[in-house]
Amino acid sequence: MAHVTAVKNNRLPRHVVIIMDGNGRWAKQRGLPRIAGHKAGVSALREIVANSAEKGIEALTVYAFSSENWDRPGSEVSRLMELFISSLQQEIDNLNGNNIRIRFIGDRTAFPGKLQSSIGEAEKITCRNTGMQFVIAANYGGRWDITNAFKLLVNKIRCNDICADEIDEQMIHSFVSLSDLPEPDLFIRTGGEMRISNYLLWQLAYTELYFTERLWPDFTPEHFESALIWFSNRERRFGRTSEQIKREKRA
Ligand code: IPE
Ligand code: IPE
Ligand code: MG
Repeated sequence: MAHVTAVKNNRLPRHVVIIMDGNGRWAKQRGLPRIAGHKAGVSALREIVANSAEKGIEALTVYAFSSENWDRPGSEVSRLMELFISSLQQEIDNLNGNNIRIRFIGDRTAFPGKLQSSIGEAEKITCRNTGMQFVIAANYGGRWDITNAFKLLVNKIRCNDICADEIDEQMIHSFVSLSDLPEPDLFIRTGGEMRISNYLLWQLAYTELYFTERLWPDFTPEHFESALIWFSNRERRFGRTSEQIKREKRA
């Protein structure tokens, strides 16, 4: 049987979004505390960011902390906060040196002051970079995102900037996170769960969904390549028929 080993027709996704799941189980398998899994997760992320930038992917958005993750034990949450601060400080020069622009989505106001400063600093230092956009979803929830868009819209109506009749999909789109980036082409979730866990609910409307059992700390550039190969073989129809797509490709 022919083995598919290359990305078909150089069809790379422009925007990849990832749910990095399985850190806790990875640590448990080794008899380590959960935070050790999160630390290993940071190393895995470093590799994937570098690899994505090298490949010329325009944007990479990763789920670092969901709006529901506050419900974890307090000790895990506070260790995660410390890890976010130290990782940002450690990685910023390297990311900046590679012309990567860092951005955060989610409600940052709930974070400790020190983390908010690190976030602001990372965004500021890299804001003129023209390479890959690296977006970190932190205290992010898809429902929070849509709720926030509603609030912004209602304010615009109240200020008479727009009237309710003008609201269309494009307008709502412009108020949710990531609206200035290409829509996510490829979604990857590691750790075996087949769910969205309140990630980019609006933005995932036509994204190709890739799930793997592999735990996030074990996810390497080779596994990433497999996801990219899988993606390159998908026929994206956006509601049309396969025949229409093939005809357009020939034209
Ligand atoms: C994902 O890994 C990282 C965060 C949610 C911060 P988990 O911590 O959810 O790992 P599992 O799912 O328990 O293995
Ligand atoms: C999703 O993983 C959030 C992040 C990876 C940051 P979870 O482990 O929190 O998701 P559930 O709770 O299993 O759905
Ligand atoms: Mg999990």
